[in-house]
Amino acid sequence: MANGAKDEVPEVPQAVVQPLTRAAIFLVVTLNPGAGSRAAVRSLCGDLAALLRAVGFRDLEGQLSCVMGFGSQAWDKLFGPPRPAELHPFREIRADGRHAVSTPGDLMFHIRAKRMDLCFELATQIMARIGTVVTTVDEVHGFRYFDDRDLMGFVDGTENPRGPAATDAVLVGDEDADFIGGSYVIIQKYLHDLGAWNALSTEAQERIIGRTKLSDIELEDTVKPTSAHSALTTIVEDGKEIKILRDNMPFGQAGKGDFGTYFIGYSRSPATIEQMLINMFVGRPPGNYDRLLDFSRAITGNLFFAPSLTFLDGVTPDQPAAPAGAAGPSGDEASPPASPLADGSLGIGSLKGDIRHE
Ligand code: HEM
Repeated sequence: MANGAKDEVPEVPQAVVQPLTRAAIFLVVTLNPGAGSRAAVRSLCGDLAALLRAVGFRDLEGQLSCVMGFGSQAWDKLFGPPRPAELHPFREIRADGRHAVSTPGDLMFHIRAKRMDLCFELATQIMARIGTVVTTVDEVHGFRYFDDRDLMGFVDGTENPRGPAATDAVLVGDEDADFIGGSYVIIQKYLHDLGAWNALSTEAQERIIGRTKLSDIELEDTVKPTSAHSALTTIVEDGKEIKILRDNMPFGQAGKGDFGTYFIGYSRSPATIEQMLINMFVGRPPGNYDRLLDFSRAITGNLFFAPSLTFLDGVTPDQPAAPAGAAGPSGDEASPPASPLADGSLGIGSLKGDIRHE
């Protein structure tokens, strides 16, 4: 159990396992130097559930949800030890001309809803709380495209695990007792050369993805190349397939000719997604790489840890450390006042005051 939580209290995960929604915002920010960012972000952690409840209540059918993730360095700055066992900076991969870049990012907010206005309102409320102490490095507004297709025209998300299999695939268990109920998240923002892609025959595209385009049926093994995207991203260990949970979203700017896929993958261990990336970029065996990358370029790459909701709810809005004898806010003007948690009713309200991550 995390941080002194009582043994009988189960960890409540963040809203990682969710049905696909029509809209999403992917917001990635870095912490500004100075003590103010620590205090303001810690204050937000404890209040995020209440903020989500307030915005989400404006349309209960809207299925508003938010997952907050933390990068490796940010974790140390915000929380200190203990840290999630497998949290580290995103490892870039270079192979021939292919490059999985590693880019800055301390906090990630993955906001999903049936309506973009709900996502936008929550993002606005979050930034109202921390906007003065962070720098936004990327904000992508994704939309669902026709039959859950990506902009390359293929249905995306079919092989996602469902129900208990999804929970098992994404939630940390006993292997890291302090962080049960958390998830690792890898994100990459891809831009596609749609002109070159659309110049391929449908059959050639299908061999690259490993599924039929119109009907979304997996190609027979006799036809599917070992370099197919769906082949290289299939990881089998000890005879068991290790699944991840994806919620990719198309995005773009038609006027600028930007057509992209925002990849987001959740997993119980980042090693699974890292192995998929090595298979895609380096190849399995090396050289047998994912031809999707001849038409797609990754322009961001980050690894985050999304702790359980129980953990977030227990973060105290503490004050930054002041030099001995110093009075006053010690340069922390930017941080908002510590907000009371008393209005929170997560359904785990009794945890407040019980769990504190100092
Ligand atoms: C350019 C970005 C990407 C696009 C357009 C894309 C598209 C697709 C499509 C169309 C499928 C087949 C349907 C499905 O099962 O969802 C698929 C499957 C899959 N993709 Fe991707 N993908 C992208 C990047 C990635 C990355 C970076 C990873 C992981 C590192 C990944 C992991 C997977 C997995 C695990 C499957 C399911 C394989 C199976 O079990 O058959 N994808 N992707």
